[in-house]
Amino acid sequence: MSEEPDLSPVILSAAGAALVIDGSGSDLPRVRHFGADLGPAAGPDLLPALAAPTPVAPLLPAQGDSWYGRPGLSGERAGEHWPVRWTLDRFDAEATPGRGGTVTIAASDERAGLELVSELTMDAGGLVTMRHTVRNTAASPYRLQGLTCALPLPARAGELLDFTGRWALEKVPQRRAFGHGAWSRENRRGRTGHDGTGLLVAGTNGFGFRSGEVWAVHTGWSGNHVHYAERLHDGPCLLAGGELLEPGEIVLGEGESYSTPLVYFTWSGGGLDEASARLHDHLRAARPLPVRPVTLNNWEATYFDHGLDRLLELAERAATAGVERFVLDDGWFRHRRHDRAGLGDWYVDEGVWPDGLRPLADRVRKLGMQFGLWFEPEMVNPDSDLAREHPDWILGRAERTPPLQRNQLVLDLARPQAYDYLLERIDTIVTEYELDYIKWDHNRDIAEPVHDGVAGVHAQTSAAYRLLDELRRRHPALEIESCSSGGARVDLGVLARTDRVWTSDSNDALDRQAIQRWTGLLVPPDRLGCHVGAPRDHCTGRRLPLAFRAATALFGHMGVEWDLTSASASELEELATWIALHKRLRPVLHAGRVVRADHADPSSLVHGVVLPEHAVFAFVRLDSRVETGPDTLRLPGLDPDALYEVSVAGPLPERAAALPRWVEEPVRLHGAVLGELGLPAPVLRPTSALVIEVRRVTS
Ligand code: DGJ
Repeated sequence: MSEEPDLSPVILSAAGAALVIDGSGSDLPRVRHFGADLGPAAGPDLLPALAAPTPVAPLLPAQGDSWYGRPGLSGERAGEHWPVRWTLDRFDAEATPGRGGTVTIAASDERAGLELVSELTMDAGGLVTMRHTVRNTAASPYRLQGLTCALPLPARAGELLDFTGRWALEKVPQRRAFGHGAWSRENRRGRTGHDGTGLLVAGTNGFGFRSGEVWAVHTGWSGNHVHYAERLHDGPCLLAGGELLEPGEIVLGEGESYSTPLVYFTWSGGGLDEASARLHDHLRAARPLPVRPVTLNNWEATYFDHGLDRLLELAERAATAGVERFVLDDGWFRHRRHDRAGLGDWYVDEGVWPDGLRPLADRVRKLGMQFGLWFEPEMVNPDSDLAREHPDWILGRAERTPPLQRNQLVLDLARPQAYDYLLERIDTIVTEYELDYIKWDHNRDIAEPVHDGVAGVHAQTSAAYRLLDELRRRHPALEIESCSSGGARVDLGVLARTDRVWTSDSNDALDRQAIQRWTGLLVPPDRLGCHVGAPRDHCTGRRLPLAFRAATALFGHMGVEWDLTSASASELEELATWIALHKRLRPVLHAGRVVRADHADPSSLVHGVVLPEHAVFAFVRLDSRVETGPDTLRLPGLDPDALYEVSVAGPLPERAAALPRWVEEPVRLHGAVLGELGLPAPVLRPTSALVIEVRRVTS
């Protein structure tokens, strides 16, 4: 028996944000407000104030409800067009003012043969997640073409920010005016993509990290997806995200349903930092992590050279420098002497490792480090035993071979035999070597994702998630890193089941400053892999001082990716100092609130991580400065009323002129002074950084 719908608007509120959902009609509810908390107002008082002069999109925007923009749901039934007009069947809300809550909506259109269930949740940090499920109730198949989650934006959201990028240069920001029409970022790469936007942000004109009102959307999904912002000429605007479905990819038989991935919406009244903090808080609460061990990855140190002596020496040096986890990258399995062969043959190569991985793994553990291994489960080289034995496991049409990328093809994970093979192989190796860690790579876009003759990215992504989940179930302590030729699989879908992302294949600290800053809008520093690379970067060829490389890696999940057997004694000593500093500061770096200053001078960056009692900042000089006058270093995010002691942490960078006094002698100032007036900025050489520690003295 269906319940009577509750007709009063529901307010979900938490951490200064509110979502008002008006379910007063018999059609789909409409979100009337997503923004600042409205204070003590109660649901029924709000309707007159929220009555909009222009149409407001219903929860699932549709023409039948007078929405003339992109529809939230699209699909067809054997060529028949039956515009969906939902009737509200159920509107359940559980809300605690200031603590968020959940709204569940059920609706149906009997004639169209569809049912809808929508779930909206606001967590205690004010982050909103949304998911729609559509079910086919008719006898004929329903071919779903799209189902996206959207929230309305007010007209004052005048600018858009999103991200593009490429291999080794991810998350490059792009901004534009938010005019009439739709700005849509569509991904058909079969993975989140180097150019995947991650977040699509709308904001009031000129919004920055610390100012302006912003709204952002993120789709928690590692396959094809779409994010868009749309403004219609008659007023309404919205922000939306969801999975991008190819024709025929989802066909619902009678009684079958499809659920969208979770789509995340975050709002801030004070710039990007607050919107980002809601995402960080959510992830940290959903998947709390133990202390992040400093990691050494051998990739840029030895590549495919897996000579045991060299690796043992690397491990010894890593341990001496303070490294806590040793990860053996690509090259340990059968036939993998280069990137043209072996993918898929997940057996330790007997030629290279005659005694298995034990001699290395045991030594690594004796040195007090954890041991981790690289896999690229979804891939196969045509030159592999696996491809030769099971050509039918390759994703694509049986009639032709899909184009190669990095000499590799994709395995059809939705094929049970391929899935079982991978599960058995990875499980066996994890068990045999008691692996603490897997670096899970995915080094290509998926060119011809055809599973059983139909578009297959949805099935492939779901199977990859199942595989990750099953391995985690069998090995609860196992940590997994999501890597995809660097940062091409960075999203909250994969981060719901992995422990960090490999942010970029570029370890060039100068490029990394920007990559980490922008990837860090979505991902908190404790889950961002950041390594100290070689003196001359392997991607860009740029030479950068160790102090700059280390101060850049310090602010993430720190690691080393450098052939330490070629490092000098003084370099090793300096590296050890930085690693020790990271260990001392990581309780702050991995738990605090990330802040980024809107620093006026483009040659410098200021960022930090703040806890109530203790904060760490970096003043980073990227490039030569045009101005010759003094620069000011403002430290955002501190309690304005508290007194703090400011001191410098770690080795001092090279400087171009005398340092201000506070750099050599700690100074005590109130948060308001540090945040507003700031300190005289030191004059540093390009590509150097000063690490600053701030401790609360009184409140
Ligand atoms: C791409 C990754 O991003 C690198 O770190 C490394 O693991 C290589 N793949 C290995 O093939």
